[in-house]
Amino acid sequence: MPSLTLTNIPYPRIALAPMEGVVDSGVRRLIGEIGGVDFCVTEFLRVTTELQPSKTFYKVSPELLQHSKTSSGIPVHFQLLGSDPQLLARHAIKAAQLGANVVDLNFGCPAKLVNRHKGGAVLLQTPELIHNIVQACAQALIDTPARLTAKMRLGYEDTELIYENLAAINEGGATELVVHARTKTEGYKPPAHWSWLAKLREASRIPVIANGEVWSVEDYDRCREVSGCPDIMIGRGLIADPYLAYRIKKQDPTLPLPTQADLAAVLLVYLKREQAHAPDKFLLSRGKQWLGMMRKGLVPITPLFDAIKVCQSAETMFDILTACSLQEGFYKALLPSSDTE
Ligand SMILES: Cc1cc2nc3c(=O)[nH]c(=O)nc-3n(C[C@H](O)[C@H](O)[C@H](O)COP(=O)(O)O)c2cc1C
Repeated sequence: MPSLTLTNIPYPRIALAPMEGVVDSGVRRLIGEIGGVDFCVTEFLRVTTELQPSKTFYKVSPELLQHSKTSSGIPVHFQLLGSDPQLLARHAIKAAQLGANVVDLNFGCPAKLVNRHKGGAVLLQTPELIHNIVQACAQALIDTPARLTAKMRLGYEDTELIYENLAAINEGGATELVVHARTKTEGYKPPAHWSWLAKLREASRIPVIANGEVWSVEDYDRCREVSGCPDIMIGRGLIADPYLAYRIKKQDPTLPLPTQADLAAVLLVYLKREQAHAPDKFLLSRGKQWLGMMRKGLVPITPLFDAIKVCQSAETMFDILTACSLQEGFYKALLPSSDTE
């Protein structure tokens, strides 16, 4: 069994959640540069019938080529999704050989297609299979420097098997567990049940990282208080407000909310970097997607969202974002330049 002690990990940590189609390496890099985030997790690599070639691993995580860190130096964990213990174990070893320091197993994805192929949250109905998967991957990593972690929801339709799944992950040999405090059936509907996290933390030998519905410094404080978990993973809240982890770590209640200009400036740096290798169509759809997620946060950005929503070209979008980013903002000075180096 790999060591369960994590003496070299500083507490409390904030993690940027894995989000397929949203948190790519450019987003990880930029949010890492702003500050406050201690580690990120890649989008999942889907393990189906055969061992994927190295290029698929590098596509999921270009950071493998730089010691599994963003260029801002933030550790990146490599996530796998699948249901075949032996095949997942082969992918875990390969990820470690290619440079992953942490391999994470996804037991939380609610997507229909993924669940139909027996990956993600559907596995929460079969704790024995979860145990076999975790054990096979932990064993596979035993002779590598990499360690294994897992991410799960409270259950599939209900919480009936929650302790069985917790035990399967603990006893299988994972070193840490992120729990998204909702069942698969609850999707992303608020609230997240942070009080469940307290029960799981008490019953777990390995550290439990709390996840779900943290959008503000106040949510972060309450989530820690209710769950008792020192470490928190944040997904949509950090996309809606990329300065959130920075503000949490600063612990200064006088810090204001970001402005529309602060958010426009984040998008501009990200999109200008992507412009070096991505087509205009991608830039336009990514810009609209990110703004749509920012609109769900606490910063009022409706005028900017409405202006970008109707843009037909990346050029117009860049013009609008540039003009907006020149307005008043407190946090945009934290941003790096958009050079692609
Ligand atoms: C668009 C989207 C994509 C996601 N992709 C993944 C994924 O690839 N792997 C994973 O473990 N969780 C994934 N999740 C779940 C998030 O990591 C996180 O658990 C969830 O959003 C709850 O946290 P939040 O309330 O802070 O957003 C995804 C969530 C969203 C909204």
